[in-house]
Amino acid sequence: MHRLVTFVAGALLGGGVIYTATRNSKSQQAPVPVPVSIPAPAPQLQVRSAPLDTSSETEFLTYGNPGPVSDFLVRSRYAASYNRALRNPNWVAEHLTQENLKGTADRANSEFKEDPNVPVQFRALLKDYFRSGYDRGHMCPAADAKKDNLSMNETFLLTNIAPQVGKGFNRNYWAIFEIFVRGLTKSFDDVYCITGPLYLPQKEGDKWVVKYEVIGNPPNVAVPTHFFKVILAKRKNEAGFAIGAFAMPNKEIDDSTPLTAFSLPIEAVEKAAGLQFFDKVERKAGVVTPLCSKIDCKLDHNAWKRK
Ligand SMILES: *[C@@H]1O[C@H](CO)[C@@H](O)[C@H](O)[C@H]1NC(C)=O
Ligand SMILES: *[C@@H]1O[C@H](CO)[C@@H](O)[C@H](O)[C@H]1NC(C)=O
Repeated sequence: MHRLVTFVAGALLGGGVIYTATRNSKSQQAPVPVPVSIPAPAPQLQVRSAPLDTSSETEFLTYGNPGPVSDFLVRSRYAASYNRALRNPNWVAEHLTQENLKGTADRANSEFKEDPNVPVQFRALLKDYFRSGYDRGHMCPAADAKKDNLSMNETFLLTNIAPQVGKGFNRNYWAIFEIFVRGLTKSFDDVYCITGPLYLPQKEGDKWVVKYEVIGNPPNVAVPTHFFKVILAKRKNEAGFAIGAFAMPNKEIDDSTPLTAFSLPIEAVEKAAGLQFFDKVERKAGVVTPLCSKIDCKLDHNAWKRK
């Protein structure tokens, strides 16, 4: 942890890039780059400290406010914010407890469905995924919604789905990572997990470029370069919270890669995603402890093989 903190601090000071790979990681995986820019002090500009009119009634919007609208969708086992331009969720939030995970619903009774709650021109479509080469990857996992058939069905709506590499990722490393998150309910009474896509810049020559595929014909659904999960966990008999943040590339990941290779400061994921996580919890020592210092952040590959 200390090494990572120093590493990140160095990157911040240099205004550069954070790499998540810890020094002792034996991983051959490419590190996850997260852009960090420290704004230069702003020159004194002649601007108003506040806009004159903050209502949408302003004359400029006489004939309408273009948005963006992030569809906010609340379901039985999750809440989601959906991005109409990328046709992916911005994030999907869950509350996992041993009780919430109970149930007998089986994914075999569910089918992927386009979400009728999103206007049709902004919907992710079944045909976009068809023969795209990508899996329809759940953000709220189906196995987290066994309560009943409706809850399970809701996780198959395409507003809870993003294109994921199947072999070696959605069907392997990511799935085992999801088992790890469910397993946290054995150590903590309440586990809040937020999952979503990232579109991170990669170095091309001397430039940073954001590049992602768009599936569908005509192109419709963006293929994220990475996925994140941020976790807030609480024990009833303890003050304070454990916080963990992970981001991993949307590609085949070798089983031997330790989960800690993808662990990041939550602030790095916030900067990359443009989101604020759990901001009702004060982020200071005594209140918040790193998740991986409370429990062993290790994936159980045998749990997957047993299935
Ligand atoms: C879900 O639906 C299937 C098929 O209709 C049914 O057999 C099963 O009992 C249902 N499961 C639950 C948990 O309600
Ligand atoms: C769940 O989805 C299946 C497949 O589309 C459907 O047959 C079933 O009626 C749905 N169950 C509920 C409870 O909505």
